[in-house]
Amino acid sequence: MELKIIFSAIFSVFFVGSVSCHSNSSLPLVIWHGMGDSCCNPLSMGSIKSLVEKNIPGIYVNSLEIGSNIIDDMANGFFMDGFTQIKFACDIIAKDPKLKNGYNAIGFSQGGQFLRAVAQICPNPPMNNLISAGGQHQGVYGFPRCPGDNSTLCNLARELLNMGAYDKFVQENLVQAQYWHDPLNEAEYRQYSRFIAIINQENSVNETYKKNLVKLNKFVMVMFGKDTMVEPKESEWFGFYVPGNTSDVYTLRESKLYIQDKLGLKQMDADKKLVFLTAPWDHLQFTDEWFEANLIPYMK
Ligand SMILES: *[C@@H]1O[C@H](CO)[C@@H](O)[C@H](O)[C@H]1NC(C)=O
Ligand SMILES: *[C@@H]1O[C@H](CO)[C@@H](O)[C@H](O)[C@H]1NC(C)=O
Ligand SMILES: *[C@@H]1O[C@H](CO)[C@@H](O)[C@H](O)[C@H]1NC(C)=O
Ligand SMILES: *[C@@H]1O[C@H](CO)[C@@H](O)[C@H](O)[C@H]1NC(C)=O
Repeated sequence: MELKIIFSAIFSVFFVGSVSCHSNSSLPLVIWHGMGDSCCNPLSMGSIKSLVEKNIPGIYVNSLEIGSNIIDDMANGFFMDGFTQIKFACDIIAKDPKLKNGYNAIGFSQGGQFLRAVAQICPNPPMNNLISAGGQHQGVYGFPRCPGDNSTLCNLARELLNMGAYDKFVQENLVQAQYWHDPLNEAEYRQYSRFIAIINQENSVNETYKKNLVKLNKFVMVMFGKDTMVEPKESEWFGFYVPGNTSDVYTLRESKLYIQDKLGLKQMDADKKLVFLTAPWDHLQFTDEWFEANLIPYMK
């Protein structure tokens, strides 16, 4: 619902015409949509693609379709294992000849943490700048509202979470459970989360993840200041609830992940590669002016 309102507002503002002026100066852009959305909805990712094309004439944009059609793409955002989705995306990116010299990337909501995993796992072709718009880099502890028009899939996801997020069946079948992070059960989270705990190196450390992530030119994290969909919203900046506490939040720079530099984020911070932005609205809401002023510069 929310998404559609904001995106249709953006959509109505600009003219989608044929682009006659092609420049070779900017890298192509890869987009990964959020939960409940698909690659090619003209009101959501389609309008983002048009907004980018309007600002950067001639740019090539690949909005990832995870599956063989948009129905699968939307359902896979709920039910296809996280690492299987990453592999799927890596294959699309590797096989697209227009991306062979590198690309910038923007992920919306869970697409943000998924594209970070792509950067960590598939360094070729190279990702230049990564923009995470409302991505949940430390996972979520709360699923307060469903995005999109159709809440059927979202309600099913919630029912599964109620069975127990770390239940084997639920972990194997629900993406949102794979980035469920229970601050009251950190040990269980580390042991059973099949996606976010792994890419965040919570147990074993895979040096490749760090080696690849630090290759990014910029890692831009957008937090939505009035986010009512992501709990806690600070996860969008790599913060999370203090263990054993569901109200106090630590920041990235206070986290063990940063202090021990398991992902190279401390190193990236020292190299001025981390950019923290706040969009002062609810989840995934922004105006085209805000998008143009704050995000387009990282796509050029
Ligand atoms: C863009 O690329 C085409 C084909 O590779 C080339 O002919 C053209 O001169 C390039 N334009 C600019 C502005 O670099
Ligand atoms: C580390 O991650 C890379 C990229 O996914 C993978 O190829 C490799 O097998 C992993 N290494 C270990 C020890 O799991
Ligand atoms: C919502 O999605 C479900 C599952 O894809 C589908 O069966 C149902 O028809 C959809 N409902 C509406 C109102 O679009
Ligand atoms: C969380 O921390 C706050 C402030 O330190 C404290 O007042 C509160 O009791 C804590 N909550 C829990 C569940 O430990």
